[in-house]
Amino acid sequence: MAEASTKVTVVGAGNVGSNTARRIAEKDLADEVVMVDVIEGLPQGLALDINHSAAVEGFDARVIGTNDYADTAGSDVTVITAGKARQPGMSRMDLLDANTEIVQGVVEQIAAHSPDTIIVVVSNPLDEMTYLASLVSGFPKERVMGMAGVLDSSRLRFFIAEKLGVAPTSVEAITLGSHGDQMVALPRHATVDGKPLPDLVDETTLQELFERTKNAGAEIVEYLKKGSAYYAPSSAAAAMVNAILSDSGEVLPCCAWTTGQYGISDVYLGVPARLGRKGVQGIVELELSEDERRALEEAAEAIRSKCKELESRRS
Ligand code: 2OP
Repeated sequence: MAEASTKVTVVGAGNVGSNTARRIAEKDLADEVVMVDVIEGLPQGLALDINHSAAVEGFDARVIGTNDYADTAGSDVTVITAGKARQPGMSRMDLLDANTEIVQGVVEQIAAHSPDTIIVVVSNPLDEMTYLASLVSGFPKERVMGMAGVLDSSRLRFFIAEKLGVAPTSVEAITLGSHGDQMVALPRHATVDGKPLPDLVDETTLQELFERTKNAGAEIVEYLKKGSAYYAPSSAAAAMVNAILSDSGEVLPCCAWTTGQYGISDVYLGVPARLGRKGVQGIVELELSEDERRALEEAAEAIRSKCKELESRRS
C-alpha cells in the first residue's frame, strides 16, 4: 500500500511564510505545501517560483499558491505566519491588536477546513498568538504550539560560536520563557564541544550574549528598516514541521501548554517539548537554578496576564 501523502499549509506568503514553504519543499518534508494569502497572485507567483527550482534543488514536493482556504483542506500541519511584522522601534507586543484580528480569522478558516491539523504559530506576539490560536480553534492543547525557542536558541548558539570562534553546530544552548523580554537563557545547559559555557567565558560576556540574543529580532528590524527577520525564523519553523511529520520525538524548545511542569500550569510558555505526529507529546523538565526558575515563573505570569487582556478584549 502506498504511504499516505502529507500536506502542510503555510498561512501568509510574506518573507517568513514563503521561506518556510520553500524550506519545507526543499527538504521534502511533505508531499504538498499549500501557501495561502489574501493578496491575489502573491502565493501563486511565489509557489510557481519555488516549483521552478525543484529540478535544480532535487525535490519532489509540490508547492501550491492560493487565496482559497478550501485548498488547505486536510492539512497535517499548518504554520501560521500571517500578520504584521515589526517596524523599527516597535516591540512584538505592539502588534497585539492588529495581529489578534488577523490570526483569529485565519484560525477560524484553518479549523473549519483541517479539523485534525497541528497548528504551529509564528505570528507575533508569539506566546499570546499561540494562546489565541488554541482558543479560537478549540483544538486539544497538544495540537497547538508556537515557534520561538528553536529560533532564539539558534541565535544564541550563533552568538556563542562567533564569540569563541567555533562552528555554531559545536554549540548546544537552549532558551525558555517568552519570545521577548522574558526570554530565559540557561547558562548551565549551554555547552561548547561538550564543555559548559560558564567555564569558557566570564559572567559579563555571558550576560552580553544573552542580551544580544534577546534583542536579536529587534537588531535585524533596525537593519532592515521595514519588516523583520525571515531566514532563521523559517528554518526554525521547518525544523518543528520536520519533527512533527517524521514523528521523531525530538525535544525542541517551543511555546507549549503547561500542565504543572516547572510548577507552572495553564499557560503557553517556552519549554523543551517532545514533538511528534500527535503534536506536543511531553514537556521535558530540565534542572533549573532558583534564579532560572523564578525567571521562568515571571515569564509565565507576564504571558498569562497579556492573554487575560486579550481574552477580555475579545468578549
Ligand atoms: C524575530 O524574532 C520575527 O519574532 C521574530 O525575528
